[in-house]
Amino acid sequence: MKNLQDANLYIKNNQEKVNSRYRGKYHACPPIGWMNDPNGFIFAFGKYHLFYQFHPYSTVWGPMHWGHFSSTDLVKWEDEPVALAPDMPYDKDGCFSGTSLVHDDKLYVMYTSVCGEYQTQALAVSADGVNFEKLGEVISTEQIPQGSSTVDFRDPKLFEEGGKFYCLIGSRTTEGVAQLLLFSSENLLNWNYVGVAYRENRSEFVCECPDFFRLNGVDILLTSPQNMKQDGINFQNQHSTIYLAGKLNLKTGAFEISSQGELDGGFDFYAAQTTKTPDGRIVMIAWQAMWDRTNITSIDGWANSMTLPRELSLKDGILLQAPVREIANYRRKHFQLQNQELNDKFALPDFGKTQEMIVTFDVEQTQKVGVKIFCGAEHETLIYYDKQLDCVVFDRSKMGKKIEHGNNEDNADLRYGKCSCSGDKVTMWLLLDVSSCEVFFADSVMTGNIYADENDKNCYLFTEGGTANIIELDLFELEFGGK
Ligand code: FRU
Repeated sequence: MKNLQDANLYIKNNQEKVNSRYRGKYHACPPIGWMNDPNGFIFAFGKYHLFYQFHPYSTVWGPMHWGHFSSTDLVKWEDEPVALAPDMPYDKDGCFSGTSLVHDDKLYVMYTSVCGEYQTQALAVSADGVNFEKLGEVISTEQIPQGSSTVDFRDPKLFEEGGKFYCLIGSRTTEGVAQLLLFSSENLLNWNYVGVAYRENRSEFVCECPDFFRLNGVDILLTSPQNMKQDGINFQNQHSTIYLAGKLNLKTGAFEISSQGELDGGFDFYAAQTTKTPDGRIVMIAWQAMWDRTNITSIDGWANSMTLPRELSLKDGILLQAPVREIANYRRKHFQLQNQELNDKFALPDFGKTQEMIVTFDVEQTQKVGVKIFCGAEHETLIYYDKQLDCVVFDRSKMGKKIEHGNNEDNADLRYGKCSCSGDKVTMWLLLDVSSCEVFFADSVMTGNIYADENDKNCYLFTEGGTANIIELDLFELEFGGK
């Protein structure tokens, strides 16, 4: 059984071997090895803490540890020592995903302790946010209600409400319907089952990684149901992440839904978590990758990153996302255009591979309009609005590398996304980071990893089937110092 010291020493001794050609400058990446879900995302002890599912010893998933980043501004992330290792009899096969809260000036994390085929929930506590003491199992297999799987029971979302503690846990029925279960506790140590919060009939397996928060008085649930069946342009990925807005009844567990949607229509987004900033914003981060695909950076000694944190707001029942505002502190060179005709394509200045671009087009006189990014002689990635399809398209089929897709998705190269135009105007807000592109549209987001060659740096605005008008373009170089 490997412990914390083993993990920290291994990282220290091997980190230098990692090839950083595709590592983002402002997207949290593990120092070495494999990373999946964000865990325990919180502001505590004067800074943000982001833990994560971590297998330091290889670039494929293995016995899960909790890695740890910290940040003062949600943009630049520092590595902290590994927080949890699978070193107890009850979690010897993995410390799976979970969440945290501050209580009595201490940071409590609740995570899934895996032992053989059983998944139970365990608690650990820290007085400094860095060193944790494990307090043992707090929800055992016997507490799982009848008719629910005893094997798939994971990813507790811990929260406090009215002086009581609650947790939502990912599960499935014994018949295979994905669901979330609610438990409650007076003291974090003894828990009682309350009821079923949600069942997802479109998923064939588990509702993974629940999250829960309140926005403008509305309760919001996030979860990642596995193998969601594709429905038009919804759920094109192997697995999806959705939000439900409504009201959670803490007495019965039932969540009454008033609106819902998919969180990200791109390729790489899963297992989202939120936290509240000291100034009251709800900020979400997610794993920027997808299960069951081939991984381009595994030969580089590391695998997967997190998204840029996003600020959430609710408008007419739709959960809106925007890049965390702190990113603006890293803007350097600025290029601007206003009210300019666009025929064919327009070459943008070379601002390198970390850029922010906010562009509004008038699409009245054309068919397709958008951007080409990370282009070279042979490679390009396209993000554009297609008037005929009335949707946005993210096409990474010519990015330079090929990613093999999973069984529950048609491909890993092309995604169609929702985009509401206001009149004939389409706005795209892109954040580029070496091998990452997150695009924010009026009421949707698409996220994708882009593996191009080092010299594929050109970016263009382009149109097809007519003339577009560039109403406004703001392009910023983003600068992060040496890191
Ligand atoms: C989601 C997930 C969680 C689990 C973790 C294991 O990506 O499958 O349900 O806790 O990953 O690493």
